[in-house]
Amino acid sequence: MFSQHLERVAEAFRRECESGKNVFVVSHYDTDGITSATILLKYLLGTNLNFHLRIVKHLTQDVCEEISVDEDWILVFLDLGSGHVDLIKNFFDVTKVFVLDHHVPTEHSHPNFFHFNPMFYGIDDLSASMVTYLFVGALDEKLKGEVVDLAVVGGVGDLKGGFGKNSRKIVDEGVELGKVVVERGIKLYGRYSRPIHKALEYSYEPYIPGITGSESNAVQFLAEHGIKVKEGDKWRRLCDLTLEEQRKLATAIIIERLRWKEEDAGDIFGDNYTLVERPVEIKDAQEFSTLLNACSRMKRWDVGIRVCLGDEKALEEASRILEEYRKKLADYLEMVRSGECIVETKKATFVRGEERIEEDFISTIVSILAVSDIASREKPIFGLAVSDDGSYVKVSGRVPKGYDVNIRDLLAEVCAELGGSGGGHRVAAGGMIPRGEEENFINLVEKRLDNHEH
Ligand code: C5P
Repeated sequence: MFSQHLERVAEAFRRECESGKNVFVVSHYDTDGITSATILLKYLLGTNLNFHLRIVKHLTQDVCEEISVDEDWILVFLDLGSGHVDLIKNFFDVTKVFVLDHHVPTEHSHPNFFHFNPMFYGIDDLSASMVTYLFVGALDEKLKGEVVDLAVVGGVGDLKGGFGKNSRKIVDEGVELGKVVVERGIKLYGRYSRPIHKALEYSYEPYIPGITGSESNAVQFLAEHGIKVKEGDKWRRLCDLTLEEQRKLATAIIIERLRWKEEDAGDIFGDNYTLVERPVEIKDAQEFSTLLNACSRMKRWDVGIRVCLGDEKALEEASRILEEYRKKLADYLEMVRSGECIVETKKATFVRGEERIEEDFISTIVSILAVSDIASREKPIFGLAVSDDGSYVKVSGRVPKGYDVNIRDLLAEVCAELGGSGGGHRVAAGGMIPRGEEENFINLVEKRLDNHEH
C-alpha cells in the first residue's frame, strides 16, 4: 500500500515534469527541511525545468499569500504542509500540489492534491529527508546513491528518538550503496574533526557534568585516565584512539555521569553514521546535521544547501558560521547560568529570553537545560523569546527524562487559549503566543502542571 501510494504520487509528479511545468518548492528551514530540499533539487537539476526554492520557518497564511503560481507551475511542500491543508487548499483549484511530509497529516481529498506521508500507513520513524529520498528514488532509482547520505543526515537531525525499523532500512540502503558506514561506539561530537579534549569540552549531548564547558577539566580528565591528547605534535581525535582506549574513555565517562546521578548514563554508546564521500568536517552525520542546523539558526540556510550540494567554498563558510553560532549559544548559556533570565516556579523552570535571546536559539537552550546541571532536572523547562520581527513570542518546552507529562498537549492547549498555537511531541514541543501574554503563559502552564499532579 505504502509503496503503491509512493509510485502513484511519483508518477503524477513525473507526468507534470514531462509536460514542462515549472516547479515551486517550499521547504522547512531546519536540517531535515534543508536536506529534503537538496534531495529534490538533485532531481530537478537533472531536468531542464525551471524551479524556485523557498525556505520558511513556518507555513503560515502570509507565506502562502506570497506564493504566486499559475497552472504552469506545480507546487511542492517538503517537511511541512501535512497539518496545514486548510492553508494550502486554495492552490488545489489552480494547479497540482504535492506534499511530502512526516508530521501528523490531515486527510483531504482533491484530484490536484498529492499527499505522501508515511504516517497514513502507521509509519512514524521516517524523517522528511527520508520521505523525499524514497520519492526521488521512485522518480529515478539511479539518484539514490547521490542522496542517501543526505537522507540519513536529515534523519539524524530530526529523529531524536533514534532510528526505527523503517529509517534503519534506509541506512542499510546507504550501506549497500557504499555511501554510509555504521559504527558502534562513543557518541561524541567531533569524532573526525576535533581534538578529543575539545570533543569532551563541547559535549552537550551527552552532557558530562564538570567536564562539558571546561577545556582544562577535559584535559585533566583524559590525563587521569591515561589517554594521551597528543601524538607527537598532532592532537588526537576520537577516531585516532585504539579500541581499548575508546573502551577506557567510555567507562570513565559513564562513571562520571553516574556520579552525577545521570539517568541513562550509558547512552553515550550508539550508532555513529560515517558518510563515506563527504569531507572530514561533515563525515559524521551528526556533525553534518549540527552544521546545517547552525547555518539555519544563523539565517544562512543558503550556505547549508550549498554544503549539501558539495560546494567546498560553502563548507568553509559554514564552518565559520558554526563557530559564530557556538559563540552565541555559549554567551546565551552563560547568561542563563548566571540566573539572569530564569524564573523558577514550583512546577517548572522558565527561561524568559524576552528580546535578549533570539527566537532561533530558545529551543536549543531549553534542550540543553533539560539535560544539563544548569537548571533543575526535576521539572519541565520552558523558554520564551520574542520573534525576530517582534510580532509574537516563541515558546518552547522540554520534559526531563522520567517526568510524566505530555508537553505537546499542554503547550497546544495553553497557546491556543492565549490566541496562539503549539504542537510537537510528548517530551519536546513548541509554539507561539501573542506578545504581552508571557505572564499568562507562565501562570497557565503552572496551573496545568499543578492539576496534572492531583
Ligand atoms: O520549536 P521547538 O524546537 O521547541 O519544537 C519542538 C518540536 O515540536 C519540534 O520537533 C518542532 O518541529 C515541533 N513543533 C510542532 N508544532 C509547533 C511547534 C513545534 O510540531 N507549532
